Amino acid sequence: MSEQLTIGEFRVFRDHLQEACGLYFAEDKYSWVARVVAARISELGIGCFSEYQRILTSSAGSRDELATLAVLLTVGETCFFRNRDHWRALAECVLPWILQRNAGTGHRRIRIWSAGCSTGEEAYTAGIVVSRSIPDLARWSIEIIATDRSPAAIAAAERAVYTEHSFRGVPADIKAEYFEKVDAGRYRPRADIRDMVRFQEMNLLDRTAMDRMCDVDVIFCRNVLIYFEAPDVERAMASFHRSLRSAWLPVPGSR
Ligand SMILES: C[S@@+](CC[C@H](N)C(=O)[O-])C[C@H]1O[C@@H](n2cnc3c(N)ncnc32)[C@H](O)[C@@H]1O
Repeated sequence: MSEQLTIGEFRVFRDHLQEACGLYFAEDKYSWVARVVAARISELGIGCFSEYQRILTSSAGSRDELATLAVLLTVGETCFFRNRDHWRALAECVLPWILQRNAGTGHRRIRIWSAGCSTGEEAYTAGIVVSRSIPDLARWSIEIIATDRSPAAIAAAERAVYTEHSFRGVPADIKAEYFEKVDAGRYRPRADIRDMVRFQEMNLLDRTAMDRMCDVDVIFCRNVLIYFEAPDVERAMASFHRSLRSAWLPVPGSR
């Protein structure tokens, strides 16, 4: 059984995590972080925190261990149609507005970004909502770009095989229409929905990677920025603003 992380060790560890992964844990998260780290240390069969800290700062292996820790600490909890009101807003307000703005311009591309997509449920839900909301879908190019800093989450999202847990709250008719059964209790989104989505590893605090995202019409970034410190929230929001399609941004001086 490993010893409990002291508050001093927590602060060193927290600062290292922030620098290496952009994750920030305030002091009120001390007990939670200490529990996760103690469980990880015992899983690895290491005697103490200082030994674990050496792994985290070594050149060999630190990247993998930091990625594992990030998943454990940021709880990739998600599900299809999470927060139903957001999806209603996309279907009933945002997409009709985009279609109307594009009418007559010849612009027939819609790019949606799921930023901090975890295992992909949010991105595939966007695909389903788009598919249900655009009557002449075949005439549109739909791109859903889904990003997360966790390689394990991205790999699971690309596999696209989900258990019942991901479907809590999903109406049976939607599940029947948009998902195919893989085997007992496991389902995957229909091929046309999967084809709309592209996954990519990306840290939302990596300015260079963020600046490559451009001409985006809609950004979903939900249950991610809660892990960031205020200046990092501002950096991410500024990057999101730069990524939006300029046609959507207000002209300076207009209301
Ligand atoms: C709770 S899940 C949210 C999933 C989905 N957006 C939802 O609301 O259902 C949080 C995700 O944010 C990701 N994440 C945390 N910090 C990140 C960062 N700096 N860059 C990219 N993704 C990050 C985690 O890996 C995790 O998969």
